[in-house]
Amino acid sequence: MTPLAASKEALKICQMAPIVPVLVVDDAKDAQPLAKALVAGGLPALEVTLRTPAALEAINEMAKVQGGVVGAGTLLTPEDVIAAKDAGATFGVSPGATDRLLDACEDADLPLLPGAVTASEAMRLLERGYTMLKFFPASTSGGAPAIKSIGAPIPQVMFCPTGGVSISNANDYLSLPNVVCAGGSWVAPKDKVTAGDWDGIEALAREAAALPR
Ligand code: 3PG
Repeated sequence: MTPLAASKEALKICQMAPIVPVLVVDDAKDAQPLAKALVAGGLPALEVTLRTPAALEAINEMAKVQGGVVGAGTLLTPEDVIAAKDAGATFGVSPGATDRLLDACEDADLPLLPGAVTASEAMRLLERGYTMLKFFPASTSGGAPAIKSIGAPIPQVMFCPTGGVSISNANDYLSLPNVVCAGGSWVAPKDKVTAGDWDGIEALAREAAALPR
């Protein structure tokens, strides 16, 4: 898959809803009900971070949920890419970008949302053909004003800010012309997942899905 095709696909996924839930799943048995609640609430694109032993099984379970588009986050190495693809992930997300990681995603036909927070990082990815990027960690990298500033000289790059985004500040990001969606973990808080409060999570998803952009 070329970087251009990968970014086109990543853009389509990012356009599905204003918010992409960033999920840390500790127990794979929670995966299906969690995905169902988020999809029912209007958030179909889901990022499962590869930060727990249950993550790959969770991706596999979530991929069975109708209407969901499940990706793997925290991709750091080529091995992560293969494992994510084998588990059924249809897209990948990385906090940054390395040549080895980009090569692996292109070879595996896994559309990637690579991370960048500076003009040089964005330019390097743009030079390679990537136009849909993650902006991480958003809040400590200058937040919405930084994305706005990068958009002046580099308007052809679109961003999905993640890290410190919440229901109360999401609009600062979503109102920018170079922000397609934002990522956030607040729609699936640990206490609600542990309690199996799927209705509560669906309500949080519904609120996030209604954010204007
Ligand atoms: C992450 O990769 O952990 C995301 O950026 C989530 O950040 P958040 O917990 O601040 O939403």
